[in-house]
Amino acid sequence: MKTCRSCGEENLPRARFCHACGLALDEIDQVVQDSRRTVTVVFSDISGSTSLSQRLDPEVFRRVMSRYFEEMRGVLERHGGRVEKFIGDAVMAVFGIPTIHEDDALRAVRAAVDMRSALDRLNIELMEGAGVMMSLRTGVNTGEVVAGDPSAGTLVTGDAVNLAARLESAARPGEILIGNDTHRLVRDAVRAEPLEPLTLKGIGREVTAHRVLEVIPGAVGALRRMDAPLVGRDDELSALQSAFEASVLERGCRLVTILGSVGVGKSRLGLEFARRIEDEALVLQGRCLSYGEGRAMWPVAEVVKQAMVIRDDDTEQQARDKIQSFLAGEDDAGSIAREVSELIGLSGPRSGAGPGYRAVIELFEALARRRPLVLIFDDIHWADSAFLDLVREILEASEDAPILLLCVARSELLDHVPTWGAPEDGASTVTLAPLDDEECRRLLGFVLGRSSPTTEAQERIITAAQGNPLFLEEMLAMLIEEGLLQRSDGRYHLELDPTAIKVPPSIQALLAARLDRLGAIDRSIVEAATIVGEVFREDEVASLLPAAVNVGLGERLNALVAREFIRPETAGVAKSGSFRFHHTLVRDVAYEAIPKGRRAELHLRFADWLESSARAWSRWLQEALAYHLETAFWLRAELGPVNHQISSLAERAADQLGSAGRKAHAAHDMPAAANLMRRAVSIAPADHAGRLEMLPLFAEALVEIGEYDEAGAVVTEAIERARATGHRGVESHALIIMLKLPKRQGFTVSLGYGISGGGEVRKPGVD
Ligand SMILES: Nc1ncnc2c1ncn2[C@@H]1O[C@H](COP(=O)(O)OP(=O)(O)OP(=O)(O)O)[C@@H](O)[C@H]1O
Ligand SMILES: [Mg+2]
Repeated sequence: MKTCRSCGEENLPRARFCHACGLALDEIDQVVQDSRRTVTVVFSDISGSTSLSQRLDPEVFRRVMSRYFEEMRGVLERHGGRVEKFIGDAVMAVFGIPTIHEDDALRAVRAAVDMRSALDRLNIELMEGAGVMMSLRTGVNTGEVVAGDPSAGTLVTGDAVNLAARLESAARPGEILIGNDTHRLVRDAVRAEPLEPLTLKGIGREVTAHRVLEVIPGAVGALRRMDAPLVGRDDELSALQSAFEASVLERGCRLVTILGSVGVGKSRLGLEFARRIEDEALVLQGRCLSYGEGRAMWPVAEVVKQAMVIRDDDTEQQARDKIQSFLAGEDDAGSIAREVSELIGLSGPRSGAGPGYRAVIELFEALARRRPLVLIFDDIHWADSAFLDLVREILEASEDAPILLLCVARSELLDHVPTWGAPEDGASTVTLAPLDDEECRRLLGFVLGRSSPTTEAQERIITAAQGNPLFLEEMLAMLIEEGLLQRSDGRYHLELDPTAIKVPPSIQALLAARLDRLGAIDRSIVEAATIVGEVFREDEVASLLPAAVNVGLGERLNALVAREFIRPETAGVAKSGSFRFHHTLVRDVAYEAIPKGRRAELHLRFADWLESSARAWSRWLQEALAYHLETAFWLRAELGPVNHQISSLAERAADQLGSAGRKAHAAHDMPAAANLMRRAVSIAPADHAGRLEMLPLFAEALVEIGEYDEAGAVVTEAIERARATGHRGVESHALIIMLKLPKRQGFTVSLGYGISGGGEVRKPGVD
């Protein structure tokens, strides 16, 4: 069978078109190839198997080992990992293939800890049966790898994999060692000890690692700060307040859902509201887990435990007694207590009929009759349908009790449950927009403390964060950690090219996971758009896609708008029908995921398309063409030795950059002219004729913008090369430019030799 990558339909093996959606199957296949992705790799090896093999009958030994592999595979897969291979007694698994999850690092560490516990259980049997024990050594590491098409089962490769294997060999029996990048992503969910820097075989640098002691159940990998004073959100808070007041007045249930994109401040708004309402209501909070398989009722369990003060070490009976004594005096107190504790997994499997929601509702009603009740359920985009049913049921069935259900979700909730929160009796939504620039400035000031950064640094960070408080906080944290944002004279200074602001790893994980959930076709559309640039048109994107994918491209782009990956471009001189990425960081992450070889090919293809479809050669079009050729060249140069093909690409790119530079020069835009010609000169092969001819003009642009040192060097090179090759015209031109250089720059020309050819370049002191 051949699965359609667009709609998932199974087709006959020989089918060329999908019988469900009509797309050409082979062409769609072409768009899904290798990808670069950040994954977490787990390597585990057992020690003690040799002595085991000596003590046991080979048949028994074989059975024990296959039990071991089965157990390990089960644990890894349950946490969302994929077993890549078994090598001898070792297991290698990867988290992030075939699908990236934003918490892959934490999943991997959890799996490692669970594997250790699974082996402990197996050991009990082994000790009883054969008097031997095995122990596990584990290494976990996060990093970028290249992964082949997952359905083809190609293995991942990359330095990150080697490091995980080396950490495993450095671990002592029973130990789990995690690399630094993993630790950063899981630090708030584990107890771990730092190790002395390790020198590992085959790794040419010292490696910092941590030894994991335990994982805290239900915790998130990296806690959000939640400490800067709240900025903005006044309207949203009053909407929540009104809903609360309505529920109190009517003694009824209201449901408000806070929706918005990742990191925009949804949980923070919920928290802020909870703080404000604390004196008037009983506020209980629960969170859906990102992989809660079998734990659909986890958030309900959390709120019930808070309300009933049930501790983790309470026995089943104690928990049930607490619920029952709270309900004392109510009808059916005993059976409600039993049903609730069964539903939320506090005691054995459910014995009653039906889903048991009635009992939970009665418990909430009882609570709300004593004091208005606010139930905050966060991250319901991860909720199981059973949980969502329960929430709806509370809204519809609860009576005579003031209950505000405050649900918090990323907008993608609407992808699975489009009607959620639709205005109906008692339901509404609050959609959070990004913060505006002024609000971002205030937040930045708070996060950095009293010594606010210089204005330029501020603006750069604000531009990169684009109104997302999480991105802002994470970017600052990364810049400070990497020493790029430094404090001096009581202020922060950012000495950095804004384009060099990287995507912080935590944000990378969030955005890559979102992108990975796109189907193959949408993914390839986003990919093509990243090549075109920050702003792109439908026909430009179409030029990079196979014909099959272009069917219905407009609709697909609109669907991507609805899903907040891109938005229509409204600002500036944009051509109509243009789009831009919803967030620059989304574009960055999607672009980085394309393997460099394919990236180069796409840039080149786009350059060809620009060249063939252009009707008039504006300066901007020329610059765009030059940029795509240049990028294709550098990517290819990074990947392999310079061959004939690459050098002719270099010449083509240099010529276009040169022409664009000349156009800028003619328009008296000297900064642009200097920039373009600098790029042309650095890319062109040394003996390329166009390069030599460009040097005097380049030097002139540099003089105009006051870059005298660089101008001096360029002019010197021009004169020397022109003389060596007999290019008199170039030489004369360069000598004229040299006259424009101020004397103090140390370059003088002896006019006695004349500009006609005998000019002499002297360094300071010579003249
Ligand atoms: N209005 C605000 N004022 C000050 N800080 C804010 C504001 N909104 C969000 N933050 C801060 O930004 C960070 C991210 O916010 P939060 O965790 O609420 O985002 P979220 O939308 O819930 O993200 P996710 O989709 O990942 O759950 C937090 O540290 C939070 O304190
Ligand atoms: Mg949140």
